[in-house]
Amino acid sequence: MSTQGQKIKELIELREKAKLGGGQKRIDSQHKKGKFTARERIEMLLDEGSFEEFDMFVTHRCTDFGLDQESYLSDGVVTGYGTIDGRVVYVFSQDFTVFGGSLSETFANKICKVMDMAMKVGAPVIGINDSGGARIQEGVTSLGGYAEIFERNILASGVIPQISAIFGPCAGGAVYSPALTDFIIMSRNTSYMFVTGPKVVKTVTGETVTSEELGGSSMHSTKSGVAHFVSDNEEEGIMLIRKLLSYLPQNNLEETPLLLTNDPIDRLEDILNEIIPDNANKPYDVKEVVGAIVDNGEFLEVQRDYAPNIVTCFARFNGQSVGIVANQPKYLAGVLDNNASRKAARFVRFCDAFNIPIVTLVDVPGFLPGTGQEYNGIIIHGAKLLFAYGEATVPKVTIVLRKAYGGAYDVMSSKHLRGDINYAWPSAEIAVMGPKGAIEVLMSRELESIQDETAKAEFLTRKEQEYKDKFANPYVAAKYGYIDDVIEPRNTRFRIIRALQSLVTKKDTNPAKKHSNLPL
Ligand code: HXC
Repeated sequence: MSTQGQKIKELIELREKAKLGGGQKRIDSQHKKGKFTARERIEMLLDEGSFEEFDMFVTHRCTDFGLDQESYLSDGVVTGYGTIDGRVVYVFSQDFTVFGGSLSETFANKICKVMDMAMKVGAPVIGINDSGGARIQEGVTSLGGYAEIFERNILASGVIPQISAIFGPCAGGAVYSPALTDFIIMSRNTSYMFVTGPKVVKTVTGETVTSEELGGSSMHSTKSGVAHFVSDNEEEGIMLIRKLLSYLPQNNLEETPLLLTNDPIDRLEDILNEIIPDNANKPYDVKEVVGAIVDNGEFLEVQRDYAPNIVTCFARFNGQSVGIVANQPKYLAGVLDNNASRKAARFVRFCDAFNIPIVTLVDVPGFLPGTGQEYNGIIIHGAKLLFAYGEATVPKVTIVLRKAYGGAYDVMSSKHLRGDINYAWPSAEIAVMGPKGAIEVLMSRELESIQDETAKAEFLTRKEQEYKDKFANPYVAAKYGYIDDVIEPRNTRFRIIRALQSLVTKKDTNPAKKHSNLPL
């Protein structure tokens, strides 16, 4: 064999060695846990044959605790770029077979390199997490490595989409990199995230708790709201990332991709003319409205199981990506509470950062009253949503389906918060509060003076009807121009598409400032 041939053979052997990560035994053990390896995950994620790997020959530099005797090519993280649906993305995928995917100085440098490249190119970063946290043998250089990544996450926020998949452990300070990214996807039963694990929890607080209870996907998708999506397995999670990206632009200066559709723009949906129940206190499922108006009935819900009283999802109208925010009358009557306000605020801010128009479907009885909410800061959390809508400069189209009461009317993308096109269905009730509450406040003295219960009930019904006739309709708001038009429900898809088309060239700005002081 020529010298050149020998060198090529060596290269191929080195590549094969690197691909084995921590060795076949550890790969088998990973598979036995129902998990894929770092490289297998990248293969599934990217368009076939598109992966270009960086830094395969990197190894750690630690000599303590016997690590001078143990090192692996790639050092526990696979990094590089490839394409998804033909668009460039940068990836890093932590390799649990090498020191439990723990982060060393060189491991961090590899992640920083792809993040820097992604920022230069203006392409999304996808991080697949499966790691025992800081590499214990390295100490502070590992901690420094995490902070280098955090800083990049922060600077990239709002510039390029950042997506984190959690397919194994993610513990300690390591959780903060995913938390700084835009979306977190967790795999059911094989992933967990917590700042301190069950053992430390037991020592410090005396609580006995399993990893799953403390930081599993079920907890994070329902209670903490940390996880935006949960997948039944890794393949499903990876397909979800691909789908999510299809709604997003490459960066904050680009438009979202247009996906041609054969769904007619003027499709009439007669069921929408019947969907609002006669009784204003009866619920319906706002997702049926969403499904009826968007292209092919397809939408991708974000934080589906967290604060279900508000729905946040991506969908398309005539091929154009939008973010939809919709109060959900099916849960807690669609009331705005702390969690719903935070959930929707973050979604609105994401859409605004990435040029994704926002369509808001309003049916909200107001903010949830009570000590539970007030003690936990409904003033601040409600203000977040208000702030997010008021600050957003992307096209904003709002449809009031039924109730828009009180402060919640203002908050939900009203005209006064620079809503661009605001429509209402004839069933809309835009008022300071619902008829019952209003009459109880306005007529309290009269009500007290009526002793006979039947007479009192009759008086209440009459006054409530008077109030309804006067205020519980869209025409008072329409009279002032706060509602641009009252539309027939079955025609909603067409009216939204036309509104969005008219806003394609919208330009709006905020005053120059270092940054706003969002209520946190
Ligand atoms: C070095 C580690 C490691 C770590 C695991 N390994 N975690 N090596 N540093 N942090 C190694 C193990 O020695 C083992 O090596 C291999 O990875 C697999 O680990 P196992 O324990 O056998 O796997 P498993 O039973 O699945 O348990 C996984 C685990 C556990 C739950 C993640 O390994 C664990 O608790 N690790 C320590 C977690 C931790 O406390 N990390 C520090 C958090 S603080 P062999 O050779 O046997 O394959 C932190 C600070 C960040 O991260 C701060 C940022 C600001």
